[in-house]
Amino acid sequence: MPIRRTSSLSSNGIPIAGGTIVALSLLWAFWPINTFSFTSPTRTVSFSTGVNNFNIFSGDGADHGFNLTHDPPEPTFYDDPDLTYTIDKPIKNWDEKRREWLWLHPSFIQGLQKRVMLVTGSQFNPCPNPIGDHLLLRFFKNKVDYCRIHGYDIFYNNVLSTPRCLLTGPKSHKTVPESDDQTGLVYLLLKEKEKWGDKIYVEDGYYLEGYWKEIVGKLENITERYNGVEKGERRLRRRHAEKVRGYSALWEEYLEGEGWRRPFMTHFTGCQPCSGTHNKLYSRQSCLDAMEKVLNFADNQVLRSYGFMHSSLGDSGSVLPLPFDYPA
Ligand SMILES: *[C@@H]1O[C@H](CO)[C@@H](O)[C@H](O)[C@H]1NC(C)=O
Ligand SMILES: *[C@@H]1O[C@H](CO)[C@@H](O)[C@H](O)[C@H]1NC(C)=O
Repeated sequence: MPIRRTSSLSSNGIPIAGGTIVALSLLWAFWPINTFSFTSPTRTVSFSTGVNNFNIFSGDGADHGFNLTHDPPEPTFYDDPDLTYTIDKPIKNWDEKRREWLWLHPSFIQGLQKRVMLVTGSQFNPCPNPIGDHLLLRFFKNKVDYCRIHGYDIFYNNVLSTPRCLLTGPKSHKTVPESDDQTGLVYLLLKEKEKWGDKIYVEDGYYLEGYWKEIVGKLENITERYNGVEKGERRLRRRHAEKVRGYSALWEEYLEGEGWRRPFMTHFTGCQPCSGTHNKLYSRQSCLDAMEKVLNFADNQVLRSYGFMHSSLGDSGSVLPLPFDYPA
């Protein structure tokens, strides 16, 4: 797939490793399409949550200004004894419930259309692969880093597959959302287009997810490439707080059409870090080495703000302090 840039997705942020794409798709899928206008005691706020207006990667996450102690006595759906989140009882009129709750909690309205939550999860039991849990932890750290830097909320779940949910859930329910869920999404698009079509956003304007085999061999060169650009451009290598934006936009002119853009998401197709039952096309070691490299590549972009980097992409255990004004 060619690298085209028509979305606002920031690929200059740290990349996400693993199968996050499905979580994002699901987030889109369940985001209601609606436009509301609120008049709160202090201000009128119009916002819409339709896919056309909802820009998932632009959440500024800045000062939410939530009033966390404000919870007026008026009843909301939280007070409804019949409301549960079990999978067998779908919540009805969610948009309306949410609207009513927001009306009573106006400090949550501001910035609503830009708010992003990353949903991720893993199975409830330990991984059969001895280092599986370690890898999942590192994949999770990668997402936490990404969310912290971009000001997104993150929701981690590992109870989706409790026996009860499995019993009551739809047949297609899977423990760890991976490729099968992508198939599920396509199935929904084909079979229930009326119901889901408008609620699912399919990104095709951007190389969102890369196959690890294609990516891993290029990481060193990509690092070189970025260092080369920074060497020639002081403003790009300037130290800054990790949350400060603006540098991504600066980078654009240097990356356009280059084909050396840092990969945004790396999908370890067939590696199965948790179960260890990897696709026979790949050796266990090649999967492990690739995961380590991609994770350290991502980590380097986080460490960089603090003036460190891994001594090599294969070295997870140690970091080197970088001289001021690196890589000049
Ligand atoms: C937050 O809500 C509480 C309780 O309603 C109120 O006393 C307080 O003034 C509010 N804080 C702000 C900053 O609005
Ligand atoms: C990386 O750069 C080296 C040196 O310029 C080159 O020989 C090699 O082919 C490049 N690797 C890839 C995957 O492009």
